[in-house]
Amino acid sequence: MGSAWAVVPAAGTGTRMGGTVNKQLIELSGRPVVEHSLRALLAVPVDGIVLVAPPGEESNFARALKDIISLNRIIIVHGGADRRESVGRGFMALPAGVGLVVVHDGARPLVRPVRVREAMKEARRWGASTLAVPVKDTVKLAGPDKLVQETLPRELLWQVQTPQVFTRELLLEAHRAAARDGYSGTDDASLVERLGHSVKLVPGDYTNIKITTPDDLLLAEKIMGLNPA
Ligand code: C5P
Repeated sequence: MGSAWAVVPAAGTGTRMGGTVNKQLIELSGRPVVEHSLRALLAVPVDGIVLVAPPGEESNFARALKDIISLNRIIIVHGGADRRESVGRGFMALPAGVGLVVVHDGARPLVRPVRVREAMKEARRWGASTLAVPVKDTVKLAGPDKLVQETLPRELLWQVQTPQVFTRELLLEAHRAAARDGYSGTDDASLVERLGHSVKLVPGDYTNIKITTPDDLLLAEKIMGLNPA
Protein backbone atom coordinates (compact mmCIF):
# COMPACT_ATOMS: atom_id res chain seq x y z
CA MET A 1 0.00 0.00 0.00
CA GLY A 2 3.03 2.33 0.17
CA SER A 3 4.19 4.34 3.15
CA ALA A 4 2.03 6.19 5.69
CA TRP A 5 2.29 9.92 6.29
CA ALA A 6 0.30 12.22 8.56
CA VAL A 7 -1.32 15.55 7.74
CA VAL A 8 -1.89 17.75 10.80
CA PRO A 9 -4.28 20.68 10.24
CA ALA A 10 -3.32 23.40 12.73
CA ALA A 11 -4.37 26.48 10.79
CA GLY A 12 -7.54 27.37 12.72
CA THR A 13 -7.79 30.90 14.03
CA GLY A 14 -8.83 29.73 17.50
CA THR A 15 -11.19 32.63 18.07
CA ARG A 16 -13.04 30.67 20.80
CA MET A 17 -9.77 30.45 22.76
CA GLY A 18 -9.31 34.24 22.99
CA GLY A 19 -5.79 35.64 23.54
CA THR A 20 -3.14 36.46 20.96
CA VAL A 21 -1.02 33.29 20.83
CA ASN A 22 -2.25 30.71 18.29
CA LYS A 23 -4.13 28.05 20.28
CA GLN A 24 -1.93 25.29 18.91
CA LEU A 25 1.17 27.03 20.26
CA ILE A 26 -0.21 27.63 23.76
CA GLU A 27 1.75 25.58 26.28
CA LEU A 28 0.35 22.42 27.79
CA SER A 29 2.62 20.80 30.38
CA GLY A 30 5.49 23.01 29.19
CA ARG A 31 5.21 22.22 25.44
CA PRO A 32 3.10 23.71 22.62
CA VAL A 33 -0.26 21.92 22.24
CA VAL A 34 0.59 20.87 18.67
CA GLU A 35 3.91 19.35 19.74
CA HIS A 36 2.03 16.76 21.83
CA SER A 37 -0.09 15.90 18.76
CA LEU A 38 3.07 15.52 16.63
CA ARG A 39 4.79 13.35 19.27
CA ALA A 40 1.84 10.94 19.37
CA LEU A 41 2.10 10.53 15.58
CA LEU A 42 5.88 10.05 15.70
CA ALA A 43 5.28 7.10 18.06
CA VAL A 44 3.48 5.13 15.31
CA PRO A 45 4.79 3.90 11.96
CA VAL A 46 4.42 7.08 9.87
CA ASP A 47 7.31 8.15 7.64
CA GLY A 48 6.71 11.87 7.96
CA ILE A 49 4.26 14.62 8.86
CA VAL A 50 2.93 17.62 6.95
CA LEU A 51 2.02 20.29 9.50
CA VAL A 52 -0.45 22.89 8.23
CA ALA A 53 0.11 26.26 9.92
CA PRO A 54 -1.96 29.43 9.60
CA PRO A 55 -0.86 31.58 6.63
CA GLY A 56 2.00 33.85 7.71
CA GLU A 57 2.71 31.81 10.85
CA GLU A 58 4.94 29.15 9.29
CA SER A 59 8.12 30.61 10.77
CA ASN A 60 6.50 31.05 14.23
CA PHE A 61 5.56 27.38 14.17
CA ALA A 62 9.02 26.37 12.92
CA ARG A 63 10.62 28.33 15.76
CA ALA A 64 8.32 27.01 18.49
CA LEU A 65 8.80 23.42 17.29
CA LYS A 66 12.46 23.55 16.22
CA ASP A 67 13.63 20.70 18.51
CA ILE A 68 11.12 18.18 17.21
CA ILE A 69 11.44 19.41 13.59
CA SER A 70 15.23 19.09 13.55
CA LEU A 71 15.04 15.40 14.49
CA ASN A 72 12.12 14.28 12.31
CA ARG A 73 10.65 14.56 8.81
CA ILE A 74 8.17 17.35 9.37
CA ILE A 75 7.22 19.69 6.53
CA ILE A 76 5.38 22.94 7.30
CA VAL A 77 2.94 24.40 4.77
CA HIS A 78 0.27 27.05 5.21
CA GLY A 79 -3.45 26.38 5.45
CA GLY A 80 -6.58 27.84 3.95
CA ALA A 81 -9.88 29.48 4.86
CA ASP A 82 -11.50 26.32 6.25
CA ARG A 83 -10.46 22.92 7.52
CA ARG A 84 -11.07 21.19 4.21
CA GLU A 85 -8.83 23.63 2.39
CA SER A 86 -6.10 23.27 5.03
CA VAL A 87 -6.10 19.47 4.80
CA GLY A 88 -6.16 19.76 0.99
CA ARG A 89 -3.05 21.96 1.05
CA GLY A 90 -1.31 19.52 3.40
CA PHE A 91 -2.26 16.67 1.10
CA MET A 92 -0.64 18.42 -1.89
CA ALA A 93 2.68 18.49 -0.01
CA LEU A 94 2.80 14.70 0.50
CA PRO A 95 5.70 13.01 -1.27
CA ALA A 96 5.12 10.48 -4.04
CA GLY A 97 4.57 6.89 -2.96
CA VAL A 98 2.40 7.61 0.09
CA GLY A 99 -0.34 4.99 0.40
CA LEU A 100 -2.04 5.82 3.69
CA VAL A 101 -2.80 9.29 5.09
CA VAL A 102 -3.40 9.87 8.81
CA VAL A 103 -5.27 13.17 9.31
CA HIS A 104 -5.02 14.39 12.91
CA ASP A 105 -6.12 17.73 14.40
CA GLY A 106 -3.22 19.76 15.76
CA ALA A 107 -5.62 20.68 18.56
CA ARG A 108 -5.95 17.08 19.86
CA PRO A 109 -2.78 16.65 21.91
CA LEU A 110 -4.00 13.78 24.10
CA VAL A 111 -4.49 11.05 21.50
CA ARG A 112 -2.86 7.76 22.49
CA PRO A 113 -0.51 6.18 19.91
CA VAL A 114 -2.20 2.79 20.43
CA ARG A 115 -5.44 4.29 19.10
CA VAL A 116 -3.67 5.79 16.07
CA ARG A 117 -2.30 2.34 15.25
CA GLU A 118 -5.78 0.80 15.56
CA ALA A 119 -7.25 3.43 13.20
CA MET A 120 -4.44 2.77 10.69
CA LYS A 121 -5.12 -0.97 10.80
CA GLU A 122 -8.84 -0.51 10.09
CA ALA A 123 -8.15 1.98 7.26
CA ARG A 124 -5.91 -0.59 5.57
CA ARG A 125 -8.89 -2.96 5.66
CA TRP A 126 -11.78 -0.58 4.91
CA GLY A 127 -10.12 2.30 3.06
CA ALA A 128 -11.32 4.84 5.64
CA SER A 129 -11.54 4.93 9.44
CA THR A 130 -12.07 7.39 12.26
CA LEU A 131 -11.69 7.28 16.02
CA ALA A 132 -15.05 7.77 17.74
CA VAL A 133 -16.72 7.41 21.14
CA PRO A 134 -20.36 6.55 21.89
CA VAL A 135 -22.46 9.62 22.69
CA LYS A 136 -23.25 9.76 26.43
CA ASP A 137 -25.97 12.43 26.41
CA THR A 138 -29.31 12.36 24.65
CA VAL A 139 -29.02 14.32 21.39
CA LYS A 140 -31.91 16.33 19.93
CA LEU A 141 -32.30 17.96 16.56
CA ALA A 142 -33.71 21.49 16.76
CA GLY A 143 -34.57 24.28 14.35
CA PRO A 144 -33.04 27.79 14.44
CA ASP A 145 -35.97 28.69 16.77
CA LYS A 146 -34.56 26.18 19.32
CA LEU A 147 -37.73 24.09 19.17
CA VAL A 148 -36.97 20.37 19.22
CA GLN A 149 -37.82 18.55 16.01
CA GLU A 150 -36.58 15.09 16.87
CA THR A 151 -34.77 13.02 19.49
CA LEU A 152 -32.08 10.94 17.83
CA PRO A 153 -31.56 7.27 18.83
CA ARG A 154 -28.65 7.47 21.26
CA GLU A 155 -27.56 3.85 20.82
CA LEU A 156 -26.65 4.63 17.19
CA LEU A 157 -24.82 7.92 17.80
CA TRP A 158 -21.04 8.36 17.89
CA GLN A 159 -18.99 11.46 18.50
CA VAL A 160 -16.11 11.41 16.05
CA GLN A 161 -12.56 12.51 16.73
CA THR A 162 -9.28 12.34 14.87
CA PRO A 163 -7.16 10.68 13.65
CA GLN A 164 -9.13 9.83 10.56
CA VAL A 165 -7.16 7.57 8.25
CA PHE A 166 -7.63 7.03 4.50
CA THR A 167 -5.97 5.48 1.53
CA ARG A 168 -4.35 8.22 -0.49
CA GLU A 169 -6.54 7.67 -3.57
CA LEU A 170 -9.80 7.78 -1.58
CA LEU A 171 -8.89 10.97 0.27
CA LEU A 172 -7.84 12.61 -3.00
CA GLU A 173 -11.10 11.65 -4.70
CA ALA A 174 -13.14 12.85 -1.70
CA HIS A 175 -11.39 16.22 -1.55
CA ARG A 176 -11.68 16.75 -5.30
CA ALA A 177 -15.42 16.00 -5.24
CA ALA A 178 -16.01 18.25 -2.20
CA ALA A 179 -14.05 21.15 -3.73
CA ARG A 180 -15.95 20.75 -7.02
CA ASP A 181 -19.31 20.79 -5.17
CA GLY A 182 -18.38 23.59 -2.77
CA TYR A 183 -18.89 21.27 0.23
CA SER A 184 -16.75 22.16 3.27
CA GLY A 185 -17.78 19.63 5.92
CA THR A 186 -16.34 19.63 9.42
CA ASP A 187 -14.23 16.49 9.05
CA ASP A 188 -12.61 14.46 6.29
CA ALA A 189 -14.71 11.35 6.87
CA SER A 190 -17.83 13.27 5.79
CA LEU A 191 -16.16 14.03 2.45
CA VAL A 192 -15.59 10.29 1.94
CA GLU A 193 -19.17 9.43 3.03
CA ARG A 194 -20.46 11.72 0.25
CA LEU A 195 -18.85 9.37 -2.25
CA GLY A 196 -20.96 6.52 -0.82
CA HIS A 197 -17.84 4.87 0.61
CA SER A 198 -17.88 3.17 4.06
CA VAL A 199 -15.99 4.69 6.97
CA LYS A 200 -15.12 2.32 9.83
CA LEU A 201 -15.58 3.65 13.39
CA VAL A 202 -12.73 2.73 15.74
CA PRO A 203 -13.58 3.11 19.45
CA GLY A 204 -11.34 5.77 20.99
CA ASP A 205 -10.97 7.49 24.36
CA TYR A 206 -13.13 10.22 25.90
CA THR A 207 -9.87 11.89 26.93
CA ASN A 208 -8.93 12.62 23.28
CA ILE A 209 -10.46 16.10 23.54
CA LYS A 210 -10.05 18.95 21.06
CA ILE A 211 -8.64 22.11 22.61
CA THR A 212 -11.22 24.73 21.67
CA THR A 213 -11.84 26.94 24.72
CA PRO A 214 -9.68 27.84 27.78
CA ASP A 215 -11.63 25.23 29.83
CA ASP A 216 -10.32 22.51 27.52
CA LEU A 217 -6.75 23.49 28.32
CA LEU A 218 -7.39 23.14 32.06
CA LEU A 219 -9.03 19.77 31.49
CA ALA A 220 -6.13 18.63 29.29
CA GLU A 221 -3.61 19.57 32.01
CA LYS A 222 -5.62 17.48 34.50
CA ILE A 223 -5.82 14.49 32.13
CA MET A 224 -2.09 14.66 31.45
CA GLY A 225 -1.46 14.76 35.19
CA LEU A 226 -3.46 11.55 35.60
CA ASN A 227 -1.74 9.78 32.68
CA PRO A 228 1.84 11.07 32.59
CA ALA A 229 3.58 10.18 29.28
O1 C5P B 1 -12.13 23.87 15.47
P1 C5P B 1 -12.14 23.02 14.25
O2 C5P B 1 -12.91 21.76 14.39
O3 C5P B 1 -12.44 23.77 13.02
O4 C5P B 1 -10.60 22.59 14.09
C1 C5P B 1 -10.13 21.30 13.86
C2 C5P B 1 -8.69 21.38 13.39
O5 C5P B 1 -8.66 21.94 12.08
C3 C5P B 1 -7.83 22.27 14.28
O6 C5P B 1 -6.61 21.61 14.58
C4 C5P B 1 -7.66 23.52 13.45
O7 C5P B 1 -6.43 24.19 13.66
C5 C5P B 1 -7.73 22.99 12.03
N1 C5P B 1 -8.14 24.02 11.04
C6 C5P B 1 -7.28 24.31 9.97
N2 C5P B 1 -7.61 25.30 9.08
C7 C5P B 1 -8.74 26.00 9.21
C8 C5P B 1 -9.64 25.72 10.29
C9 C5P B 1 -9.31 24.71 11.19
O8 C5P B 1 -6.22 23.69 9.84
N3 C5P B 1 -9.00 26.98 8.35
